[in-house]
Amino acid sequence: MNGLAIYPGSFDPFTSGHLDIVQRAAQLFPRLIVAVAVNVRKMPTFTVEERVQMLQESLEGMEQVEVDSFSGLLVDYARQRGARIIVRGLRALSDFENEFQMAHMNRRLHPDLETVFMMTSQEHFYVSSQTVKEVAFFDGNVSGLVPEPVLRRLRNQRGTGGF
Ligand code: PNS
Repeated sequence: MNGLAIYPGSFDPFTSGHLDIVQRAAQLFPRLIVAVAVNVRKMPTFTVEERVQMLQESLEGMEQVEVDSFSGLLVDYARQRGARIIVRGLRALSDFENEFQMAHMNRRLHPDLETVFMMTSQEHFYVSSQTVKEVAFFDGNVSGLVPEPVLRRLRNQRGTGGF
């Protein structure tokens, strides 16, 4: 085991809930790749480049954390990077079914890949990229729910038709 873990997601955008998982996963694994999926099933608000940039700015100074992006299957990306651990955050029960299906499908495709779930901290249980975008779109206050670089980007996006 090389201890390399991947935390994949859409991160559209990266929230304080995601940051909480990165910070805690970085205590458990010596190297962590936060990987932005070029997700074909969702129409993202932010481009991959924007999402990667927001992540890089939000995670600046975290030495063992790398930001990357991938397209195609997560299992193929994990193989290519030589990682055998996937980290996912779990919020409420509603996350469970989808996560359960993904973890089993990924295990079937790549039996050596282990998915590790981390429970999102209590104060972030209700935070999602979707709700943050919606509140920001209607000029609501999302400070504290997203890291500062994301907050700046959301403020710039307002009124540009970018949402
Ligand atoms: O932040 P999200 O949208 O919950 O992340 C979902 C993600 C990106 C981890 C998942 O959709 C994924 O791994 N996509 C890559 C394509 C893939 O491997 N799909 C098969 C999973 S069953």
